[in-house]
Amino acid sequence: MGFEKNILCIGAGFVGGPTAAMIAYKCPQYGVTVVDISKERIKQWNSETLPVYEPGLDEIVKATRGRNLFFKTDIAKGIRDNEIIYVCVNTPTKTFGAGAGLAADLQFWENTARDIREHARSSKIVIEKSTFPVKTALAMERILNSRASKIQFDVLSNPEFLAEGTAVRDMEYPDRVLIGSRDTEGGYRARDILVEIYANWVPRQKILTSNIWSSELSKLAANLFLAQRISTINAMSAICERTEADVSEVAKIVGMDGRIGARFLNASIGFGGSCFKKDILNLVYLCQHEGLPEVADYLQGVVRINEYQKERFVMNMLEAMFNTLAGKKVCLFGFAFKADTSDTRESPAIHVVRRLLEERAEVVVTDPRALDNAKIDLKGLAGRVSYVKDPCKAVKGCQAIAVVTEWDLYRGLDYKKIYGQMIKPAFIFDGRNILDHKRCFEIGFNVYPVGKPGLTHFK
Ligand code: NAD
Ligand code: UGA
Repeated sequence: MGFEKNILCIGAGFVGGPTAAMIAYKCPQYGVTVVDISKERIKQWNSETLPVYEPGLDEIVKATRGRNLFFKTDIAKGIRDNEIIYVCVNTPTKTFGAGAGLAADLQFWENTARDIREHARSSKIVIEKSTFPVKTALAMERILNSRASKIQFDVLSNPEFLAEGTAVRDMEYPDRVLIGSRDTEGGYRARDILVEIYANWVPRQKILTSNIWSSELSKLAANLFLAQRISTINAMSAICERTEADVSEVAKIVGMDGRIGARFLNASIGFGGSCFKKDILNLVYLCQHEGLPEVADYLQGVVRINEYQKERFVMNMLEAMFNTLAGKKVCLFGFAFKADTSDTRESPAIHVVRRLLEERAEVVVTDPRALDNAKIDLKGLAGRVSYVKDPCKAVKGCQAIAVVTEWDLYRGLDYKKIYGQMIKPAFIFDGRNILDHKRCFEIGFNVYPVGKPGLTHFK
């Protein structure tokens, strides 16, 4: 092929696709191939409409696809032809058997490890890019080396810290790149090769090397710390609502302490996404398994508060709308788990819709990017749900708007016009605190933010 290095990404998802595209973009001297068991996914990556919506991603894929970035379905050939292999497969929470609901489901990576062992004809560096439980590298080594052969496999941990919606920026200017290796000659050699790849665009001082178990554990720890901040500020929001304090003011004041920091303190309807919950539960499982029930309980609290926050949002709606939602039409502003993504995995919207339907409300969902995924998530739910892309049309005949995703577009809408189309009294429940609450109140809405006093026209 004539490339300086040949790199393979196994798993063409939210992480594998963008990771491969960024390496190909920054390193034209390397050939990067992405493979997946899903032929449909690969087809989408080769089409005009990528399977993942991420700002800036289309551009880097278009610049590299067919040049030094290739999306293919032949996994065996990919393994044979590439010496550096990123494992980017999914690691969802197990839904069956021992550890169901907590542990990571490792069948996907184990199949990958077996594929690599099966098809490798020369030595490989195998990189854990997915988020794995601690000690996965040991299991991976055991599988890879379970066949008598001279082929050497060096396993590295190189967890991904990107957030969806900012994936391209996060990969281009990462806070840090973490590479964990074994304390062996082969481990160090593999580590140095990976450091050189990232050094093509990441400043050396941001490339951290560590012991492989610290690397695996730090990825889970980072997600725990991030999620914990949201659950802490959301717990404060519940106290604010009872005391007439304002959670935005509390967050600002607390965050100005340099030791705490201002970012990631937005009270909300609760965190969503495919990773926070699963990674914390993964740690909970580890603690239970290792005889650390107190630690397990402490960590579980982060997830418990998140479930509570989502339910609290629905109960606030019910109470404000005179304790009945039956037959009322509610419009959800946003379905994605956060802004700037089409991803709806673990989105709080799913809980809200399910609960609204249980209360026999009628639901209209609007979202600029996530309606296709919303339709899949809500398939089979009993009750009436409709989907309208334009928020100004979606609100027609509704009694309430529930802001679930912090899309910028919702800040700039003509709320006077929207009010005119709704049944009165009209309500806004701002699960993201992004609207101009005073202005909406003056237009006539009864406004309920998260963690702030409600603004109502009722005496
Ligand atoms: P995803 O579900 O979008 O993609 C995983 C892909 O792997 C799928 O396309 C699936 O078909 C493919 N796959 C599964 N088994 C395979 C096999 N044996 N061979 C080839 N392909 C296979 O998942 P994702 O969001 O990209 O997450 C992947 C990993 O990265 C997870 O461990 C996750 O925790 C971690 N992570 C995700 C993010 C994120 O923002 N999504 C960020 C950091 C880390
Ligand atoms: C998160 C981490 O931020 C990444 O560093 C990590 O790599 C990734 O998980 C992962 O391991 O998958 P992501 O879930 O894509 O990234 O998005 P975040 O920006 O972390 O948002 C997660 C959820 O928290 C969203 O629902 C968001 O709306 C919510 N959130 C975020 C809040 O409610 N308040 C905040 O202040 C920040």
